[in-house]
Amino acid sequence: RRPADAAAEAALAALRRDGVEVKVWQADVAAEADVDALLAEIDATMPPLRGVCHLAGVVEDCLVGDVTPASLAATLAGKARGAWLLHERTLAYPLEHFVLFSSAAAAFGAPGQSTYAMANAYLDALAARRRAQGLPALSIAWGPWQDVGMLARSSANAKRRLAQLGIGQIEAECGRATFEIALGADLPAHLVLLPIDWGRLIEQWPPHVPASRFAGIATAQPGAGSTSSVSELLALPAEARRHRLFQLLAEDAALVTGTPLASLDPERSLFDYDLDSLLITDLRVLLEKRFGRAIPTTVIFSNPTIAALADHLARTVFGMAEAEATPAAPAAEPDAPADAAMSQEEIVEMLSAKLKELNRKDAR
Ligand SMILES: NC(=O)c1ccc[n+]([C@@H]2O[C@H](COP(=O)([O-])OP(=O)(O)OC[C@H]3O[C@@H](n4cnc5c(N)ncnc54)[C@H](OP(=O)(O)O)[C@@H]3O)[C@@H](O)[C@H]2O)c1
Repeated sequence: RRPADAAAEAALAALRRDGVEVKVWQADVAAEADVDALLAEIDATMPPLRGVCHLAGVVEDCLVGDVTPASLAATLAGKARGAWLLHERTLAYPLEHFVLFSSAAAAFGAPGQSTYAMANAYLDALAARRRAQGLPALSIAWGPWQDVGMLARSSANAKRRLAQLGIGQIEAECGRATFEIALGADLPAHLVLLPIDWGRLIEQWPPHVPASRFAGIATAQPGAGSTSSVSELLALPAEARRHRLFQLLAEDAALVTGTPLASLDPERSLFDYDLDSLLITDLRVLLEKRFGRAIPTTVIFSNPTIAALADHLARTVFGMAEAEATPAAPAAEPDAPADAAMSQEEIVEMLSAKLKELNRKDAR
């Protein structure tokens, strides 16, 4: 849509130096008039169209509760609407290739990317439909590319989360070479291409994900990556248990926020360590696996330091008396009163305000 930037201009210039004739038009692929005008230009000025590669897309990370009709429409436009228009408007052309750049987010799901996953699943389905109709089609569900594109521009938190899941990044040259192979081979309409540690990915997933989903890929079980710490803690005397609880919570918080363990201050709010709305969900999942019980996100909001969390879990999971629990837990933030004292509506309102504040912080 936008004009080529300096990096794109340099790449185009390199192609032209190699003798390739390159033409550039700007268009919104989700707008019928733009697609029709583009095809008319191609018909008028170029040899017969032989291939389509659809790469248009936008990703907007947010939790399901924050999805708005406008954000959903924006994510679906370039991908779903755009791909459909290209499919429909090129049916009469003798194409050899119709390639859709999809995402592994649609194959595995990705925290915070529900609408993006939906848009990419549409591409996978469109490729299957075209194949069934005897038309060329290939939907490549890429994993994250390393040095170029949308993931390269994303936050350090997003990249760290992928690494924790066992998902590697694709080097541009490797991706290009793989693309060339995929284009020339007789392959299914839907490919998922990414460097991945399957065992690690499956183990990190919540235990309720059906293991059958990964049958034949790896023997790991969803949720097997973390064992419950409850029995280990229960076996310890009260003082040692408190110490170990602190240690375990600090390890989880360090992992999720990417902070070296030694630099974590147990009395400092985790929000000061860049705990964003998605990382809160990650921390909650880790704690639930560790303590074998549902831990609402409100618990983290209401107890935002390691000391306060340890205090809360000591009481709720291990039933330690108030006096035995970790001393000196700091007072809750003024905008995050203890959930027990709040109505359901107040909790939802408080969470929504806090998440919006975090998302604004992310965007900056
Ligand atoms: N990079 C990755 O790690 C990765 C991984 C998996 C899949 N993919 C997929 O691969 C494709 C390319 O990714 P990328 O990293 O190169 O993304 P990118 O750098 O964000 O580029 C996406 C391009 O799509 C264009 N676009 C969006 N909506 C459009 C529309 N309605 N009409 C025309 N153009 C539109 C954008 O134009 P504007 O700048 O004008 O918005 C932008 O130039 C995307 O479909 C993405 O989902 C990428």
